[in-house]
Order: sequence, then structure tokens, then C-alpha cells
Amino acid sequence: MTTKKFYITTPLYYLNSEPHIGHAYTTLAADVLARYKKTKNEPVYFLTGTDEHGANIEKAALNHNVTPQQWTDDMAAKFKALWQVLGIEYDDFIRTTEPRHERVVQAIFEKLLAKGDIYKGSYSGKYCLSCESYLDESELVDGKCPIHKKEPQIIEEETYFFKLSAYQDKLLKYYEENPTFISPKHRAQEIINFVKGGLKDLSVSRTKVKWGISVPSDPNHTIYVWFDALINYISAAGYLADENKFKELWPADIHFLGKEILRFHAVIWPAVLMALDLPLPKQDFAHGWWTIEGEKMSKSLGNFIDPRDITAKYGVDAFRYFIFREVPFGQDGDFSMEAFKKRFNADLANDLGNLLSRTLNMAAKNVGEIPQTYTNANSALLKKAEETDKLYDQNMNALAFDKALDAIWALAGYMNKYIDETKPWMLAKTDPEKTKEILLELVFALRYFASWLAPFMPTSAAEISRRLQSGKIEKYGPLFPRID
Ligand code: ME8
Ligand code: MG
Repeated sequence: MTTKKFYITTPLYYLNSEPHIGHAYTTLAADVLARYKKTKNEPVYFLTGTDEHGANIEKAALNHNVTPQQWTDDMAAKFKALWQVLGIEYDDFIRTTEPRHERVVQAIFEKLLAKGDIYKGSYSGKYCLSCESYLDESELVDGKCPIHKKEPQIIEEETYFFKLSAYQDKLLKYYEENPTFISPKHRAQEIINFVKGGLKDLSVSRTKVKWGISVPSDPNHTIYVWFDALINYISAAGYLADENKFKELWPADIHFLGKEILRFHAVIWPAVLMALDLPLPKQDFAHGWWTIEGEKMSKSLGNFIDPRDITAKYGVDAFRYFIFREVPFGQDGDFSMEAFKKRFNADLANDLGNLLSRTLNMAAKNVGEIPQTYTNANSALLKKAEETDKLYDQNMNALAFDKALDAIWALAGYMNKYIDETKPWMLAKTDPEKTKEILLELVFALRYFASWLAPFMPTSAAEISRRLQSGKIEKYGPLFPRID
């Protein structure tokens, strides 16, 4: 018997530029969900990796006077190093240049060629190099790519096509029967309209791009990077290689991605899977885009945020917290240092940090030993903590990370108010028993925070948990010293 694992993926990031906050965001979202599942003892499998073929990568290597292989080795190492800094606990990191992936892509290409889902033809059209995609006249804005604002190149070549047009009706049926496949909901209509508008067959090979996986039966052609890259989700899962592993993982439970690549994941990818007679992923979740201090991240502005700059100064957990609290997951958002510092001081130093140190310092003085367990049926606070726990789970399962965090901080606010109103430091003089009871309520409500925060702020959560252990309570310094 194989147990199905909850299979989570991120996009495979291109290696033509250094990892930045945008890549970190998607990968952290996957990490938060994976860690959450682990706190519930659900078996989970988390895949990330890098997209290493294509003309852009070839060009980047050339510009730096290194071979594409050298370039991709160096860049993939940079992504891995950042994931380590950010505490990303992935189970597998796949590079599209690995033989275990290339083999599967080639086998799939030949399989679909034999089946007639891939056929040879010729193509002429406008191609955006940055998208690595042909663009339809109707998609251009002022003759330019709407995403990259660059004029596409006119390309004419012999190419193999994937029969995407044959899957239009099946795709529409799948969307209808699986209304959460395209998430969040507000992104579904655009995809549905696009598919209803009619699908053209997709060019899936190139003769001019050398840095790619070659078509085994026609080595003048390399396989189109998107066709190559999407297959990672099954090549990494053991498709055509490890039957047991594949059963354990496929279909994916969730593909996380940014909104600009939803079409590839919600149209092309399921069609390829249909052609292969494989089950489809349960959900594509397309989150929004980060801007930096109100501006789009761009090479010309040089405003890419390297998460290492922030985490070195303010800690990894504060960064992980900020990006999920600041912006509803699924919406666009802006990263500004001012907003970051404001949240750090208000939410972490004040609301949470003070609550913890006030509680522990008073408990050290007035409680003595903290018991293993504590029940108090009359405690409104502990009741509220249980309600918060339910709300937290609901929101985590709905991927409403911001709302899950809102619920936690609402309880922190309630607890701070409870302390302000009951004034245990005064009460201790007249009613030590009642004081002890209040402090135990606070300590045991705080224990929930350790588990709630674990997916978002793993190091701080472990430290909170350590400080709240039963036994003799000590005095501690602040967990989040204020930023000035
Ligand atoms: O598209 N805000 O790779 P890519 C939020 N190789 N997220 C952002 C972001 C931003 N400003 N910028 C990037 C590719 N991202 C393909 C994917 S998948 C088989 C192949 C994140 O390096 C977001 O997840 O351009 C986005 O979809 C992804 O990085 C694009 O990474
Ligand atoms: Mg991109």
C-alpha cells in the first residue's frame, strides 16, 4: 500500500538572473504550507527547482563568457543557497538539465509524436524572447509584449506542434467540474475566456536554440523550454522511472505560481497530461506580484530586493512574517522598508514580543513552576484561543495566510488588553491565587502561538515553545528588539 502524499510544487525559476523577493515569495508560500501540513502529521512532499534551458540562459552565459553548463551550475547553487538561508525545507530540487528530467521529456515527446498529439509543421509568428513564447497579434499592446514591453521578434521555422486545439472542450469541462482548479477564483474567468476563444496548436520545438533537450528522432530540433520545464512536475515525481514514488505523489495537490504564468499551468500543462492519460493536478494557485517601493522590479531600475539584505539585518522570521501578513495571498502587493519596519515594531516587537516577555517575567515572579497541563473551563481567554485555533486552521487550509495571521494577532491584542485590565503586577499584592490563575491562562494561551507560528516563523516559534516549557520559568530578553 502506498500512501498518497500531499504534493506541493513551485515554478522552476529561470537562471538568467539572481534570485529575488519574488522567487522567495512563491517558495516560502510552498514552505509555509508544507510545514503546516507537517504540524498536522500529514505526509507532504515539496518540490522546487530551476528552469535551465533556452535562448535566454544561453545568452546570459555568453554575456558572462562561461558555458551554459557552468552558468547554470553557478546560478542553481545561488538559488539553493538562498533557500537554505530562508529555511526552506524542500524534499527535492530538480534542475531541468539533469538526466533524470531530460530522459522523461524525450520519452514524452516521442510518445506523443507516435500518438499523433505532436506533429511536424512550420511556423511563422511573433516571439517574445523574455516570455519564451509566441504572441498572438491580439495579445500585443502597441505592437509590444504586454508583460515585457518589448517588440517581439518575427520567427519563421520548421517546428513540431502539440495538438493543443484538440483539448479545448476537455479543458473547459475540467474547469467546470473542478471549480477550485484555477485559484484564486478571480483568475479563472480570464483563462476560461481564453480557452473558449479557441486554442491554436502549440509550437514545441526550435531549430535555432541549441541549449535545450534535443528531439531524439530529429536532433536538429530542441524541445521548447516550456514544454520541457512543465514536465518537471512529473519527472521529479518518478514518472516513467519509479512507479511507487509516482503513485505516492501524482497528481500534484497544488502548483504554486505567479499570475503571469497561469496560462501555461492551467491550459498547456493539463492538455499535455490529458494527452498522456494522466490525472490532472488538483489546484493551480496563482498569487500576485510584488512591487518595490511602488515600482515594478526591473533591470533598468536595479531595484530587485535580495532577501539576504533584509534577513541579515532583521532576521529570516521577520521577513517570512512580513510577506505573508502584509498582503492577502493572491493579491498584488508592495514591499517598502517603511512598511516592513512599521510591522516589525508594531506586530513583532510590541504585540507579540511584549506579550511574551510581560507574561514570562510576571510568571517567573508569581507562578513558580509551570505545570504540564492546565485546564480552566471558566477562562474566556482559553475559549478564545480555541476559537482562534479553528479560525487559523480554516484560513490555513484556504491558503488565506494573511487571515490566519490576522486571527493570531487579534488574540495577541486581546491578551495584551487582558493584562492591561487585570494588572497582574498590582493584583499580586492583594490576590496571589487569582494572579497565578491569570498568568497560567496567559502562558497556556501563548503555547498555541508556538504551534500557529511554526510554519511562518520556525525559529521564533521553537524559541517561544522553549520559553514556555513546563517547569521553572525564567526571565528572557526580547525576542524582537525594536528597530529604530
Ligand atoms: O516563469 N512578485 O520563471 P521565472 C511575485 N521558468 N512573484 C514573483 C515576482 C514578483 N515580482 N517575480 C517572480 C518562469 N516571481 C518559468 C517557470 S515553471 C515549469 C517554469 C515568482 O524565473 C512567481 O512565482 O520568471 C513567478 O511565477 C515566478 O517567480 C517566475 O519565475
Ligand atoms: Mg518571468
